[in-house]
Amino acid sequence: EKGTYPHFMLKEIDEQPFVIRNIIQKYQNEDGTVRLDDEIRGAMKAADRIYIIAAGTSYHAGLVGKQLIEKIAQRPVEVHIASEFLYNMPLLSENPLFIFISQSGETADLRGVLVDVKKKGYPALTITNVPGSTLSREADFTLHTYAGPEIAVASTKAYTAQMAVLTLLAVDTAKARGIELDFDPLQELAIVSSAMETLCDQKEKLELIARDYLAVTRNCFFIGRAADYFVCLEGALKLKEISYIQAEGFAGGELKHGTIALIEDGTPVIAIATQEHVNLSIRGNVKEVAARGAYPCIISMEGLDQDGDAFVLPKVHEYLTSLITVIPLQLISYYAALHRDCDVDKPRNLAKSVTVE
Ligand code: F6R
Repeated sequence: EKGTYPHFMLKEIDEQPFVIRNIIQKYQNEDGTVRLDDEIRGAMKAADRIYIIAAGTSYHAGLVGKQLIEKIAQRPVEVHIASEFLYNMPLLSENPLFIFISQSGETADLRGVLVDVKKKGYPALTITNVPGSTLSREADFTLHTYAGPEIAVASTKAYTAQMAVLTLLAVDTAKARGIELDFDPLQELAIVSSAMETLCDQKEKLELIARDYLAVTRNCFFIGRAADYFVCLEGALKLKEISYIQAEGFAGGELKHGTIALIEDGTPVIAIATQEHVNLSIRGNVKEVAARGAYPCIISMEGLDQDGDAFVLPKVHEYLTSLITVIPLQLISYYAALHRDCDVDKPRNLAKSVTVE
């Protein structure tokens, strides 16, 4: 039920702080440490390489998951688009573990890969919001994202829930491998949850940004570097699917290799700056596009912000920035779609769960 909300999407965006708190509770031991299934821990520990398979928004969560697992648990990870995996199959390692990330647990492209993987005898873990789903039943293990039903076609809370669960999976694997962490993951996720609340309270500001930059434009670019690049891909997908604005996410450094040719007078460029080590270079990219007439909108993080930034995010742990950066992007897409009279919850040509290949 939507309750007092005009759309499921807005309700589901607002639910994100609670979803993160729920995940903390579900995966917390009494002593405040992370608790995951022993079998999953064993499978993660035994794998010499992890292959993440997903589609759409879940694929974008997978890109963030790779960074989390590699940085926190120091295991190598590859991320693949499900529909391409069987045609562009990489040379597999000796002891692979497959992780399928799927909100619905029903995506046919993923199922095709899962069937193949099981035939070959490899272990598979499904991270899903629907534990009884096909992908969950057919895999060896399941991790539940506990986001509650997601009704809007555009995925929002399922994406942040997937990233939170991937964080805990990385932390648990690190523990199994005897790696000492220099941060308390559950406490950092609690900080993320509060930051999400702060962001959900700034809808008016984000609506103004949407109106200013996106009410009439034909296209829009998102640029970022490092972790911010992956959020740019997700921000662009959200905007495309619900507002029908042609949008693309780019790595800041790639602009000069072609894309910058698309910049015209007034082209909106949303730049994300939450990563200290690339703050100067992404701001350099903003200057390059501005010099060619773009209309830049900088979304930065407290401590890295500069005069003239359009929006400043509260500070969270550097590994977890994607979980909060996406919220203003979700809300900007939502308001852009409203301004353009689009059907937010049921965009044209799309289905919530894609059960055909
Ligand atoms: C985007 C969106 C889709 C899904 C994709 C995978 O908002 O909803 O891109 O993320 O179809 O779906 P699941 O996660 O159910 O496998």
